[in-house]
Amino acid sequence: MTRSESMARAKIAVIPGDGIGPEVVAEGIKVLDRVGDHFGHCFDFAYGSVGGEAIDKFGTALPDETLRLCKKSDAILFGAVGGPKWDDPKAKVRPEQGLLELRKRLNLFANIRPVKVNTQLKDSTPFKPEILDGVDLVVVRELTGGLYFGRPKRQWTTSRGRRAVDSMIYSEEEISRILRVGFELAKRRRKKLTSVDKANVLESSRLWRQIALEMEPQYPDVKLDHLLVDTCAMHLIRRPAQFDVIVTENTFGDILTDEASVLAGSVGMLPSASLNMDRSGDDGKPARALGLYEPIHGSAPDLVGRDMANPIAMILSVAMMLRYSLGLDREAEAIEGAVDRVLERGYRTPDIMEEGMKAVGTVEMGSAIADHVSGTI
Ligand code: IPM
Ligand code: MG
Repeated sequence: MTRSESMARAKIAVIPGDGIGPEVVAEGIKVLDRVGDHFGHCFDFAYGSVGGEAIDKFGTALPDETLRLCKKSDAILFGAVGGPKWDDPKAKVRPEQGLLELRKRLNLFANIRPVKVNTQLKDSTPFKPEILDGVDLVVVRELTGGLYFGRPKRQWTTSRGRRAVDSMIYSEEEISRILRVGFELAKRRRKKLTSVDKANVLESSRLWRQIALEMEPQYPDVKLDHLLVDTCAMHLIRRPAQFDVIVTENTFGDILTDEASVLAGSVGMLPSASLNMDRSGDDGKPARALGLYEPIHGSAPDLVGRDMANPIAMILSVAMMLRYSLGLDREAEAIEGAVDRVLERGYRTPDIMEEGMKAVGTVEMGSAIADHVSGTI
């Protein structure tokens, strides 16, 4: 056992959710338990219900009990929500509302989505290898405002047919706090911040850009530039290595991160952290923030129960949790290193499988990573 300076004890809320959520969460917990054994920490798990399974059991996508559980925990591990069973566009409650409400109620406004290209996986992407050289970027997505939450938001019927509205609304405070997260992160990385908006069309984007320009002098060592979201979508696949930190609105960030996941070989590779930086009590440094950690992939209904899902995004989300909410950097690195070594050894789930590699399922991939964490292989 490698004892850390001090033993940590943490209360973790676990929300497996729908689809492949429970399968990947089980592998995340397996790896986390191994970290606990190996480094001498104690993680207490308490399970909660959200999404479709919560609708089935409790008639609501976010039961009060789950919200209470999350509030009193040090961090939240989240699988996925949604599925065809709850997909009726006329349904009153949708599984996704559970996740959105959780983000909002816990004020998890900063969504951090790192995109790294693992050299082992370059051939499993549709890109020429030279495009992927040196890709290491982070998207900071605003998560509790914008088009997702703005009011009015509704559908209605008029004498001339049906109408619907969603509103992209941002306050100065919402914009400046997420830009600050972007600036602070860029300061600690390669010092380049790209603020992504649609300022040629949208008023909310013009305010966003104005505030970014006003904040720029506070970060003299960070190089700030601005990109329109459509141009950004293009550059993300034409010259991805040039990005360091991207900061953007909720919907833009949702779309750009699914696009960016192709760089990493599979949507099954990308972790994320959704943080309440206010609780960290300092100027944007993400130490010990309350956080919800989830893979960016969804519930993948077609893979359910087939031992086919890639658990790496979930396992890397556990590493982010150790780093951001529990301050256990060495332990996070142990997980990230174990993932690299298992990929080096040729272990591949179906989404990243190539000829000559070792085909494994969800469970075997999780076990191999756990074994590497504790050095048993
Ligand atoms: C994501 C997902 C969610 C989102 C869905 C499940 C509501 O796509 O985390 O990227 O749109 O934010
Ligand atoms: Mg998404």
